[in-house]
Amino acid sequence: GEAITVADLAQKLAMKGGDVVKALFKMGVMATITQSIDHDTAALAVEELGHIPVRADADDAESELIAHVGETQGDQVARPPVVTIMGHVDHGKTSLLDYIRRTKIASGEAGGITQHIGAYHVETDKGVISFLDTPGHAAFTSMRARGAKLTDIVILVVAADDGVMPQTVEAIKHAKAAKVPLIVAINKIDKSGADPSRVKNELLEHEIVAEDFGGDTQMVELSAKTGDGVDDLLDAISLQSEILELRAVAEGRASGTVIESSLDKGRGPVATVLVQNGLLSRGDYLVCGVQYGRVRALFDETGNQVPTAGPSIPVQVLGLSGVPDAGDDFVVVADERLAKDVASQRDTKRRETRLVQAAGNRMEDIMAQM
Ligand code: GTP
Ligand code: MG
Repeated sequence: GEAITVADLAQKLAMKGGDVVKALFKMGVMATITQSIDHDTAALAVEELGHIPVRADADDAESELIAHVGETQGDQVARPPVVTIMGHVDHGKTSLLDYIRRTKIASGEAGGITQHIGAYHVETDKGVISFLDTPGHAAFTSMRARGAKLTDIVILVVAADDGVMPQTVEAIKHAKAAKVPLIVAINKIDKSGADPSRVKNELLEHEIVAEDFGGDTQMVELSAKTGDGVDDLLDAISLQSEILELRAVAEGRASGTVIESSLDKGRGPVATVLVQNGLLSRGDYLVCGVQYGRVRALFDETGNQVPTAGPSIPVQVLGLSGVPDAGDDFVVVADERLAKDVASQRDTKRRETRLVQAAGNRMEDIMAQM
């Protein structure tokens, strides 16, 4: 862990170095003024001297964390692509995933509308692909933005009988902002009003140009209902993935991002995370935003317990101290002490920031009344 010299500790306590050496000696720790002692020993010495130990430097644990993560760098190996499905409401995103996964999620959704980010990994003939399903409803902009940030490839679903609509355009903006390549899935080609070339023309206005129009965007015509063209989409994804040469460290301590989180009555805080590096295992200590904990159980998207999850794999984590925010990073650390330190420092920092903001707001109110 991190260390502090006896001299520095004495200075922080406004004491003579010799007195700190004596206090340490009483505790059975032999150290000279120039020697370093670890933080736990220092904290005990501070208590011994009748003070309450407080880790003053708010970035202490963070820098320890960074050094810690640096240790886990290993060999990069190929990893599955993370693919986010985006598009206007009802254009068939969940149905497309249902077809690929052989599930029936869309028909079970309240009002037929997706209201959260679904995360799934699927074994296909082309290898494993992880999918994030986003809602198309106008209200869920932040989820779409988050989905675009977390992903390697965006699949833009456009219904061939409806064409480019507001959230189609929004999804294009998110993909561009996140600098993520886009593949267009022109869906519902089984319907009588389907007009794929109209979709391609409308997309031109947003600088999304199909290969057969001289551009470089792969577009696949398909039906999530009949399954026509779905294999072509999987081919397009694997082609795009090869170009991206996606790699990650597959062993060692895991890190990644929270996709979603909630408080479950029986199970406590639940976080769906995307592992981006390393191997997340049951029993691991982790920091997750301002929360920390020990992984009590991991579940895959079908609700089965799994012992581990590697790069690009979404997994539900149980065992956190509280509910992290969607979009928070998580990092596995070697011991509970560091996890706790980092989480509590972050929490303190966040509170301070909020207090400063609140004070600022009050000032503005007062100024406004003057
Ligand atoms: P949100 O998540 O709410 O944005 O909707 P979504 O894009 O996930 O659409 P969803 O998969 O829920 O499908 C909406 C409706 O379109 C459902 O009634 C589907 O059965 C229907 N649908 C989806 N794909 C096709 C298709 O290829 N052909 C036909 N005929 N209907 C489809
Ligand atoms: Mg949906």
